[in-house]
Amino acid sequence: MPAIVLVGAQWGDEGKGKATDLLGTDVDLVVKFNGGNNAGHTVVIEGEDGTREKYALHLLPSGILTPSVTPVIGNGVVIDLEVLFQELDGLEARGVDTSKLVVSANAHVIAPYNRTLDKVTERFLGSRRIGTTGRGIGPTYADKMNRVGIRIQDLFDEGILRQKVEAALGFKNQVLVKIYNTRAVDVDLVVEELLGYVERLRPMVADSALVLEKALDAGQNVLLEAGQATLLDVDHGTYPFVTSSSATAGGACTGSGIPPTRVSRVIAILKAYTTRVGEGPFPTELFDDDGETLRKTGAEYGTTTGRPRRCGWMDTVIGRYATRINGVTDFVITKLDVLTGFDQVPVCVAYEVDGVRHDEMPVSQSDFHHAKPVYEMLDGWWEDISGCREFDELPAAAQRYVLRVEELIGARVSAIGVGPGRHEIIQRHPLLDA
Ligand code: GDP
Ligand code: IMO
Ligand code: MG
Repeated sequence: MPAIVLVGAQWGDEGKGKATDLLGTDVDLVVKFNGGNNAGHTVVIEGEDGTREKYALHLLPSGILTPSVTPVIGNGVVIDLEVLFQELDGLEARGVDTSKLVVSANAHVIAPYNRTLDKVTERFLGSRRIGTTGRGIGPTYADKMNRVGIRIQDLFDEGILRQKVEAALGFKNQVLVKIYNTRAVDVDLVVEELLGYVERLRPMVADSALVLEKALDAGQNVLLEAGQATLLDVDHGTYPFVTSSSATAGGACTGSGIPPTRVSRVIAILKAYTTRVGEGPFPTELFDDDGETLRKTGAEYGTTTGRPRRCGWMDTVIGRYATRINGVTDFVITKLDVLTGFDQVPVCVAYEVDGVRHDEMPVSQSDFHHAKPVYEMLDGWWEDISGCREFDELPAAAQRYVLRVEELIGARVSAIGVGPGRHEIIQRHPLLDA
Protein backbone atom coordinates (compact mmCIF):
# COMPACT_ATOMS: atom_id res chain seq x y z
CA MET A 1 0.00 0.00 0.00
CA PRO A 2 1.13 3.53 -0.61
CA ALA A 3 2.20 6.35 1.63
CA ILE A 4 0.31 9.65 1.56
CA VAL A 5 1.88 13.00 2.33
CA LEU A 6 -0.08 15.88 3.91
CA VAL A 7 1.48 19.37 3.87
CA GLY A 8 0.55 22.97 4.54
CA ALA A 9 0.34 25.13 1.41
CA GLN A 10 0.87 28.57 2.98
CA TRP A 11 2.60 29.79 6.18
CA GLY A 12 1.15 27.20 8.57
CA ASP A 13 -2.05 26.85 10.60
CA GLU A 14 -4.08 25.85 7.56
CA GLY A 15 -5.86 23.09 9.52
CA LYS A 16 -3.47 20.18 8.94
CA GLY A 17 -4.43 18.69 12.29
CA LYS A 18 -8.10 18.63 11.43
CA ALA A 19 -7.41 17.13 8.00
CA THR A 20 -5.26 14.37 9.51
CA ASP A 21 -7.93 13.66 12.08
CA LEU A 22 -10.50 13.53 9.28
CA LEU A 23 -8.65 10.66 7.58
CA GLY A 24 -8.92 8.96 10.98
CA THR A 25 -9.56 5.27 10.82
CA ASP A 26 -8.71 5.08 7.10
CA VAL A 27 -5.02 5.30 7.92
CA ASP A 28 -3.03 2.88 10.05
CA LEU A 29 0.04 4.95 10.90
CA VAL A 30 0.49 8.74 11.11
CA VAL A 31 4.06 10.03 11.02
CA LYS A 32 5.29 13.47 12.05
CA PHE A 33 8.38 13.94 9.91
CA ASN A 34 9.66 17.48 10.57
CA GLY A 35 9.72 20.28 13.11
CA GLY A 36 8.99 19.94 16.80
CA ASN A 37 6.82 21.68 19.35
CA ASN A 38 6.82 24.86 17.27
CA ALA A 39 3.76 23.28 15.61
CA GLY A 40 0.30 23.71 17.07
CA HIS A 41 -2.58 21.68 15.71
CA THR A 42 -6.09 22.16 17.08
CA VAL A 43 -8.50 19.28 16.59
CA VAL A 44 -12.15 19.60 17.59
CA ILE A 45 -14.11 16.41 18.11
CA GLU A 46 -17.90 16.59 18.36
CA GLY A 47 -19.62 14.19 20.72
CA GLU A 48 -22.92 12.50 19.83
CA ASP A 49 -24.66 14.80 22.36
CA GLY A 50 -23.42 17.94 20.58
CA THR A 51 -20.52 18.62 22.97
CA ARG A 52 -17.18 19.67 21.49
CA GLU A 53 -13.83 18.49 22.80
CA LYS A 54 -10.82 20.56 21.78
CA TYR A 55 -7.30 19.11 21.66
CA ALA A 56 -4.12 21.15 21.04
CA LEU A 57 -1.22 19.01 19.81
CA HIS A 58 2.34 20.25 19.42
CA LEU A 59 4.79 17.40 19.24
CA LEU A 60 2.58 14.38 18.72
CA PRO A 61 1.09 13.56 15.32
CA SER A 62 -2.61 14.46 15.17
CA GLY A 63 -3.40 10.83 14.33
CA ILE A 64 -2.86 9.98 18.01
CA LEU A 65 -6.51 10.93 18.67
CA THR A 66 -7.72 7.95 16.60
CA PRO A 67 -7.44 4.76 18.71
CA SER A 68 -6.64 2.48 15.74
CA VAL A 69 -3.74 4.65 14.52
CA THR A 70 -0.08 4.05 15.40
CA PRO A 71 1.53 7.47 15.85
CA VAL A 72 5.17 7.78 14.82
CA ILE A 73 7.70 10.55 15.50
CA GLY A 74 10.13 10.27 12.61
CA ASN A 75 13.87 10.87 12.37
CA GLY A 76 13.35 14.36 10.91
CA VAL A 77 11.72 15.68 14.09
CA VAL A 78 13.41 17.55 16.94
CA ILE A 79 12.07 16.48 20.33
CA ASP A 80 11.78 18.44 23.56
CA LEU A 81 11.45 15.50 25.95
CA GLU A 82 9.82 17.52 28.71
CA VAL A 83 7.12 18.63 26.28
CA LEU A 84 6.72 15.11 24.88
CA PHE A 85 5.92 13.65 28.29
CA GLN A 86 3.73 16.59 29.31
CA GLU A 87 1.70 16.15 26.14
CA LEU A 88 1.43 12.39 26.62
CA ASP A 89 0.33 12.85 30.25
CA GLY A 90 -2.23 15.47 29.20
CA LEU A 91 -3.77 13.14 26.63
CA GLU A 92 -3.73 10.11 28.94
CA ALA A 93 -5.53 12.19 31.59
CA ARG A 94 -8.27 12.81 29.01
CA GLY A 95 -8.57 9.12 28.23
CA VAL A 96 -6.53 8.99 25.00
CA ASP A 97 -4.48 5.81 24.67
CA THR A 98 -0.92 6.83 23.75
CA SER A 99 0.75 3.46 24.31
CA LYS A 100 1.38 2.76 20.63
CA LEU A 101 3.68 5.77 20.08
CA VAL A 102 6.89 4.98 18.19
CA VAL A 103 9.85 7.38 18.45
CA SER A 104 12.73 7.26 15.98
CA ALA A 105 16.13 6.46 17.49
CA ASN A 106 17.59 8.99 15.04
CA ALA A 107 15.38 11.94 15.94
CA HIS A 108 17.29 14.81 17.56
CA VAL A 109 16.75 16.08 21.07
CA ILE A 110 16.15 19.76 21.83
CA ALA A 111 18.70 20.26 24.60
CA PRO A 112 17.79 22.90 27.21
CA TYR A 113 20.66 25.16 26.06
CA ASN A 114 19.15 25.35 22.57
CA ARG A 115 15.92 26.77 23.97
CA THR A 116 18.02 29.44 25.69
CA LEU A 117 20.01 30.13 22.52
CA ASP A 118 16.85 30.48 20.42
CA LYS A 119 15.52 33.18 22.74
CA VAL A 120 18.75 35.14 23.23
CA THR A 121 19.55 35.05 19.50
CA GLU A 122 16.15 36.56 18.73
CA ARG A 123 16.72 39.28 21.31
CA PHE A 124 20.15 39.96 19.84
CA LEU A 125 18.73 40.24 16.30
CA GLY A 126 16.37 43.00 17.45
CA SER A 127 14.44 44.41 14.50
CA ARG A 128 15.91 41.70 12.24
CA ARG A 129 14.43 38.89 14.35
CA ILE A 130 12.56 35.98 12.73
CA GLY A 131 9.80 35.90 15.33
CA THR A 132 10.49 32.26 16.21
CA THR A 133 8.39 30.30 18.65
CA GLY A 134 11.36 30.27 21.05
CA ARG A 135 11.26 26.49 21.36
CA GLY A 136 14.90 25.85 20.37
CA ILE A 137 14.04 24.59 16.89
CA GLY A 138 16.65 26.55 14.86
CA PRO A 139 19.64 25.91 17.14
CA THR A 140 18.79 22.18 17.35
CA TYR A 141 18.64 21.76 13.55
CA ALA A 142 21.84 23.82 13.30
CA ASP A 143 23.51 21.34 15.69
CA LYS A 144 22.23 18.46 13.57
CA MET A 145 23.79 19.94 10.43
CA ASN A 146 26.95 20.87 12.32
CA ARG A 147 27.13 17.26 13.51
CA VAL A 148 27.13 18.21 17.19
CA GLY A 149 23.49 17.26 17.83
CA ILE A 150 22.18 14.79 20.38
CA ARG A 151 20.02 11.99 19.08
CA ILE A 152 17.46 9.95 20.98
CA GLN A 153 19.72 6.89 20.75
CA ASP A 154 22.56 8.80 22.47
CA LEU A 155 20.51 8.91 25.67
CA PHE A 156 20.97 5.18 26.11
CA ASP A 157 24.75 5.44 26.48
CA GLU A 158 25.69 7.79 29.30
CA GLY A 159 29.35 8.01 28.23
CA ILE A 160 28.47 9.04 24.68
CA LEU A 161 25.80 11.45 25.90
CA ARG A 162 28.24 13.20 28.24
CA GLN A 163 30.87 13.44 25.49
CA LYS A 164 28.35 15.01 23.11
CA VAL A 165 26.98 17.49 25.63
CA GLU A 166 30.55 18.47 26.58
CA ALA A 167 31.49 18.95 22.92
CA ALA A 168 28.41 21.08 22.23
CA LEU A 169 28.75 23.19 25.37
CA GLY A 170 32.49 23.72 24.90
CA PHE A 171 31.58 26.08 22.09
CA LYS A 172 28.12 27.21 23.12
CA ASN A 173 29.15 28.33 26.60
CA GLN A 174 31.70 30.66 25.03
CA VAL A 175 28.94 32.14 22.89
CA LEU A 176 26.47 32.39 25.79
CA VAL A 177 28.95 34.07 28.13
CA LYS A 178 31.13 36.16 25.82
CA ILE A 179 28.67 37.24 23.15
CA TYR A 180 25.26 37.09 24.76
CA ASN A 181 26.46 37.97 28.24
CA THR A 182 24.40 35.24 29.93
CA ARG A 183 25.31 32.38 32.24
CA ALA A 184 27.23 29.26 31.17
CA VAL A 185 25.29 25.98 31.19
CA ASP A 186 26.49 23.14 33.42
CA VAL A 187 27.23 19.85 31.59
CA ASP A 188 26.21 17.68 34.57
CA LEU A 189 22.82 19.34 34.88
CA VAL A 190 22.04 18.80 31.20
CA VAL A 191 23.15 15.16 31.27
CA GLU A 192 21.15 14.53 34.45
CA GLU A 193 18.02 16.10 32.99
CA LEU A 194 18.22 14.07 29.78
CA LEU A 195 18.98 10.81 31.59
CA GLY A 196 15.88 11.38 33.68
CA TYR A 197 13.72 10.58 30.63
CA VAL A 198 15.48 7.39 29.57
CA GLU A 199 13.40 4.72 31.29
CA ARG A 200 10.08 6.15 30.12
CA LEU A 201 11.42 6.63 26.62
CA ARG A 202 12.98 3.18 26.18
CA PRO A 203 9.90 1.16 25.12
CA MET A 204 8.91 3.77 22.50
CA VAL A 205 12.21 3.94 20.66
CA ALA A 206 12.68 2.02 17.43
CA ASP A 207 14.15 2.05 13.94
CA SER A 208 11.05 3.89 12.73
CA ALA A 209 12.02 3.69 9.04
CA LEU A 210 11.98 -0.09 9.33
CA VAL A 211 8.66 -0.06 11.19
CA LEU A 212 7.20 2.02 8.34
CA GLU A 213 8.60 -0.17 5.60
CA LYS A 214 7.14 -3.26 7.24
CA ALA A 215 3.77 -1.54 7.59
CA LEU A 216 3.74 -0.57 3.91
CA ASP A 217 4.77 -4.09 2.91
CA ALA A 218 1.90 -5.45 5.00
CA GLY A 219 -0.56 -3.28 3.03
CA GLN A 220 -1.14 -0.64 5.67
CA ASN A 221 -1.85 3.03 4.93
CA VAL A 222 0.79 5.47 6.14
CA LEU A 223 0.09 9.19 6.39
CA LEU A 224 3.07 11.54 6.60
CA GLU A 225 1.88 14.70 8.36
CA ALA A 226 3.91 17.91 8.01
CA GLY A 227 4.36 20.53 10.65
CA GLN A 228 4.64 24.13 9.38
CA ALA A 229 4.17 24.65 5.64
CA THR A 230 5.55 25.26 2.14
CA LEU A 231 6.51 28.90 2.66
CA LEU A 232 8.13 28.11 6.01
CA ASP A 233 10.30 25.37 4.45
CA VAL A 234 14.01 26.08 4.92
CA ASP A 235 14.73 25.57 1.19
CA HIS A 236 11.52 26.61 -0.53
CA GLY A 237 10.09 29.16 1.88
CA THR A 238 10.59 32.88 2.37
CA TYR A 239 14.12 32.49 3.74
CA PRO A 240 15.29 33.65 6.28
CA PHE A 241 11.74 34.06 7.60
CA VAL A 242 11.20 30.32 7.73
CA THR A 243 11.52 27.46 10.16
CA SER A 244 14.65 25.29 10.09
CA SER A 245 13.22 22.05 8.69
CA SER A 246 11.97 20.62 5.39
CA ALA A 247 8.22 21.06 5.60
CA THR A 248 7.47 20.23 1.96
CA ALA A 249 6.71 16.84 0.40
CA GLY A 250 10.39 16.03 -0.20
CA GLY A 251 11.01 16.41 3.52
CA ALA A 252 8.44 13.70 4.18
CA CYS A 253 10.82 11.15 2.66
CA THR A 254 14.05 12.29 4.34
CA GLY A 255 12.23 12.88 7.62
CA SER A 256 10.71 9.40 7.75
CA GLY A 257 12.95 7.11 5.71
CA ILE A 258 10.09 6.27 3.32
CA PRO A 259 11.41 6.41 -0.26
CA PRO A 260 9.73 8.72 -2.85
CA THR A 261 8.70 5.71 -4.95
CA ARG A 262 6.28 4.65 -2.20
CA VAL A 263 4.38 7.94 -2.05
CA SER A 264 1.23 7.93 -4.15
CA ARG A 265 -0.51 11.15 -3.13
CA VAL A 266 0.28 14.56 -1.81
CA ILE A 267 -2.56 16.37 -0.07
CA ALA A 268 -2.05 20.09 0.59
CA ILE A 269 -4.10 22.06 3.07
CA LEU A 270 -4.98 25.56 1.89
CA LYS A 271 -6.83 28.05 4.06
CA ALA A 272 -9.55 29.97 2.17
CA TYR A 273 -7.59 33.13 3.08
CA THR A 274 -3.99 33.54 4.26
CA THR A 275 -2.37 33.87 7.70
CA ARG A 276 1.16 34.18 8.95
CA VAL A 277 2.71 34.26 12.45
CA GLY A 278 6.10 35.88 13.02
CA GLU A 279 8.02 38.21 10.74
CA GLY A 280 8.53 38.15 6.98
CA PRO A 281 6.93 39.22 3.69
CA PHE A 282 3.19 38.66 3.12
CA PRO A 283 1.84 40.32 -0.07
CA THR A 284 -1.90 40.00 0.64
CA GLU A 285 -1.69 41.05 4.29
CA LEU A 286 -4.56 43.30 5.43
CA PHE A 287 -4.18 46.13 7.91
CA ASP A 288 -7.81 47.25 7.78
CA ASP A 289 -11.17 46.16 9.20
CA ASP A 290 -11.36 43.19 6.82
CA GLY A 291 -8.12 41.82 8.32
CA GLU A 292 -9.55 42.25 11.81
CA THR A 293 -12.78 40.52 10.75
CA LEU A 294 -10.82 37.52 9.40
CA ARG A 295 -8.80 37.35 12.64
CA LYS A 296 -11.90 37.51 14.84
CA THR A 297 -14.17 35.23 12.79
CA GLY A 298 -11.37 32.75 12.09
CA ALA A 299 -10.08 32.85 15.70
CA GLU A 300 -6.62 33.51 14.30
CA TYR A 301 -4.49 33.39 17.42
CA GLY A 302 -1.51 30.99 17.60
CA THR A 303 -2.10 27.55 19.14
CA THR A 304 1.52 27.49 20.33
CA THR A 305 2.37 31.06 21.36
CA GLY A 306 -1.06 32.73 21.47
CA ARG A 307 0.22 35.49 19.14
CA PRO A 308 -2.42 37.14 16.91
CA ARG A 309 -1.94 35.81 13.38
CA ARG A 310 -1.43 38.28 10.53
CA CYS A 311 -4.37 37.89 8.11
CA GLY A 312 -4.92 38.54 4.39
CA TRP A 313 -6.79 37.38 1.29
CA MET A 314 -6.23 34.15 -0.64
CA ASP A 315 -3.00 34.23 -2.67
CA THR A 316 -3.15 31.79 -5.58
CA VAL A 317 0.42 32.57 -6.68
CA ILE A 318 1.40 30.84 -3.43
CA GLY A 319 -1.18 28.10 -4.07
CA ARG A 320 0.32 27.38 -7.52
CA TYR A 321 3.80 27.42 -6.02
CA ALA A 322 2.70 24.88 -3.39
CA THR A 323 1.26 22.67 -6.14
CA ARG A 324 4.55 22.76 -8.03
CA ILE A 325 6.97 22.32 -5.11
CA ASN A 326 4.98 19.52 -3.45
CA GLY A 327 3.50 17.80 -6.49
CA VAL A 328 0.05 18.26 -4.97
CA THR A 329 -2.58 15.77 -6.13
CA ASP A 330 -5.41 17.01 -3.87
CA PHE A 331 -6.16 20.21 -2.00
CA VAL A 332 -8.29 20.56 1.10
CA ILE A 333 -9.56 24.14 1.36
CA THR A 334 -10.27 24.95 5.01
CA LYS A 335 -12.23 27.70 6.76
CA LEU A 336 -14.44 28.63 3.81
CA ASP A 337 -17.08 29.47 6.46
CA VAL A 338 -14.88 32.32 7.70
CA LEU A 339 -15.32 34.13 4.36
CA THR A 340 -19.09 34.32 4.84
CA GLY A 341 -20.35 37.90 5.09
CA PHE A 342 -18.19 39.87 2.65
CA ASP A 343 -19.80 41.69 -0.31
CA GLN A 344 -16.83 40.80 -2.44
CA VAL A 345 -13.92 38.46 -1.84
CA PRO A 346 -10.63 39.43 -3.50
CA VAL A 347 -8.35 36.63 -4.75
CA CYS A 348 -4.73 37.42 -5.57
CA VAL A 349 -3.92 36.03 -9.03
CA ALA A 350 -0.49 37.60 -9.67
CA TYR A 351 1.91 40.20 -8.28
CA GLU A 352 3.14 43.48 -9.57
CA VAL A 353 6.74 44.32 -8.75
CA ASP A 354 8.03 47.73 -9.85
CA GLY A 355 5.46 47.85 -12.64
CA VAL A 356 6.17 44.31 -13.88
CA ARG A 357 3.57 41.53 -13.58
CA HIS A 358 4.70 38.23 -12.01
CA ASP A 359 2.48 35.17 -12.42
CA GLU A 360 4.89 33.00 -10.45
CA MET A 361 6.81 33.58 -7.20
CA PRO A 362 9.54 36.14 -7.95
CA VAL A 363 13.04 34.63 -8.05
CA SER A 364 14.41 37.32 -5.80
CA GLN A 365 13.31 37.58 -2.20
CA SER A 366 13.66 41.39 -2.40
CA ASP A 367 11.09 41.41 -5.21
CA PHE A 368 8.76 39.29 -3.07
CA HIS A 369 9.09 41.86 -0.28
CA HIS A 370 7.88 44.54 -2.73
CA ALA A 371 5.21 42.44 -4.44
CA LYS A 372 1.81 44.15 -4.74
CA PRO A 373 -1.10 41.75 -5.16
CA VAL A 374 -3.14 41.85 -8.39
CA TYR A 375 -6.68 41.03 -7.28
CA GLU A 376 -9.62 39.47 -9.05
CA MET A 377 -12.86 40.39 -7.26
CA LEU A 378 -15.31 37.55 -6.69
CA ASP A 379 -18.84 37.88 -5.35
CA GLY A 380 -19.31 37.13 -1.68
CA TRP A 381 -22.12 35.27 0.12
CA TRP A 382 -24.02 35.82 3.36
CA GLU A 383 -25.58 32.44 4.10
CA ASP A 384 -24.32 30.30 7.00
CA ILE A 385 -22.51 27.42 5.26
CA SER A 386 -21.43 25.43 8.32
CA GLY A 387 -24.26 22.91 7.82
CA CYS A 388 -23.41 22.18 4.15
CA ARG A 389 -22.13 18.66 3.50
CA GLU A 390 -22.43 18.56 -0.32
CA PHE A 391 -20.77 20.93 -2.75
CA ASP A 392 -24.05 21.88 -4.40
CA GLU A 393 -25.53 22.89 -1.04
CA LEU A 394 -23.07 25.82 -0.94
CA PRO A 395 -24.37 29.22 -2.12
CA ALA A 396 -23.58 29.75 -5.82
CA ALA A 397 -20.98 32.46 -5.01
CA ALA A 398 -19.14 30.15 -2.59
CA GLN A 399 -19.09 27.41 -5.24
CA ARG A 400 -17.69 29.88 -7.78
CA TYR A 401 -15.01 30.93 -5.26
CA VAL A 402 -13.83 27.33 -4.82
CA LEU A 403 -13.93 26.58 -8.55
CA ARG A 404 -12.00 29.74 -9.48
CA VAL A 405 -9.34 29.04 -6.82
CA GLU A 406 -9.11 25.44 -8.04
CA GLU A 407 -8.51 26.68 -11.56
CA LEU A 408 -5.82 29.11 -10.42
CA ILE A 409 -3.86 26.70 -8.19
CA GLY A 410 -3.81 23.91 -10.76
CA ALA A 411 -4.87 20.87 -8.72
CA ARG A 412 -8.27 19.57 -7.71
CA VAL A 413 -9.99 20.62 -4.51
CA SER A 414 -11.09 17.35 -2.94
CA ALA A 415 -12.51 18.58 0.36
CA ILE A 416 -13.74 21.86 1.83
CA GLY A 417 -13.82 22.76 5.52
CA VAL A 418 -16.91 24.64 6.69
CA GLY A 419 -16.25 24.58 10.46
CA PRO A 420 -13.68 23.41 13.00
CA GLY A 421 -15.47 20.15 13.90
CA ARG A 422 -14.50 16.73 12.60
CA HIS A 423 -17.69 16.44 10.56
CA GLU A 424 -17.85 20.01 9.27
CA ILE A 425 -16.48 19.13 5.86
CA ILE A 426 -17.61 18.72 2.26
CA GLN A 427 -15.96 15.81 0.44
CA ARG A 428 -15.79 16.14 -3.35
CA HIS A 429 -13.31 13.37 -4.15
CA PRO A 430 -11.93 10.60 -1.93
CA LEU A 431 -8.62 11.57 -0.29
CA LEU A 432 -7.39 7.99 -0.21
CA ASP A 433 -7.19 5.41 -2.97
CA ALA A 434 -9.90 2.79 -2.70
P1 GDP B 1 -2.53 23.36 11.74
O1 GDP B 1 -1.34 23.87 12.48
O2 GDP B 1 -2.36 23.39 10.26
O3 GDP B 1 -2.97 22.01 12.23
O4 GDP B 1 -3.71 24.38 12.04
P2 GDP B 1 -4.12 25.05 13.47
O5 GDP B 1 -4.79 24.02 14.29
O6 GDP B 1 -2.96 25.77 14.04
O7 GDP B 1 -5.12 26.18 12.99
C1 GDP B 1 -6.28 25.87 12.30
C2 GDP B 1 -7.49 26.32 13.15
O8 GDP B 1 -8.63 26.35 12.33
C3 GDP B 1 -7.84 25.37 14.27
O9 GDP B 1 -8.30 26.14 15.36
C4 GDP B 1 -8.95 24.50 13.72
O10 GDP B 1 -9.83 24.02 14.70
C5 GDP B 1 -9.65 25.47 12.82
N1 GDP B 1 -10.28 24.90 11.62
C6 GDP B 1 -9.83 23.91 10.80
N2 GDP B 1 -10.65 23.75 9.75
C7 GDP B 1 -11.63 24.68 9.88
C8 GDP B 1 -12.76 25.05 9.08
O11 GDP B 1 -13.02 24.51 8.02
N3 GDP B 1 -13.53 26.09 9.56
C9 GDP B 1 -13.26 26.75 10.72
N4 GDP B 1 -14.05 27.75 11.10
N5 GDP B 1 -12.20 26.41 11.49
C10 GDP B 1 -11.39 25.42 11.07
P1 IMO C 1 1.97 24.61 12.37
O1 IMO C 1 2.49 23.22 12.25
C1 IMO C 1 2.75 28.90 11.86
C2 IMO C 1 6.91 30.21 12.31
C3 IMO C 1 7.26 31.07 13.51
C4 IMO C 1 8.39 31.91 12.91
C5 IMO C 1 9.12 30.90 12.04
C6 IMO C 1 10.34 30.27 12.69
O2 IMO C 1 1.06 24.84 13.53
O3 IMO C 1 1.42 25.12 11.07
P2 IMO C 1 10.64 28.44 14.61
O4 IMO C 1 10.24 28.47 16.06
O5 IMO C 1 10.07 27.31 13.83
O6 IMO C 1 12.13 28.57 14.43
O7 IMO C 1 10.02 29.81 13.99
O8 IMO C 1 8.18 29.90 11.72
N1 IMO C 1 6.26 28.92 12.64
C7 IMO C 1 4.96 28.67 12.44
N2 IMO C 1 3.97 29.47 11.98
N3 IMO C 1 2.49 27.60 12.14
C8 IMO C 1 3.49 26.78 12.59
O9 IMO C 1 3.31 25.46 12.76
C9 IMO C 1 4.77 27.32 12.78
N4 IMO C 1 5.96 26.81 13.21
C10 IMO C 1 6.86 27.79 13.10
O10 IMO C 1 6.16 31.88 13.89
O11 IMO C 1 7.88 32.91 12.07
MG1 MG D 1 -0.85 25.41 13.81
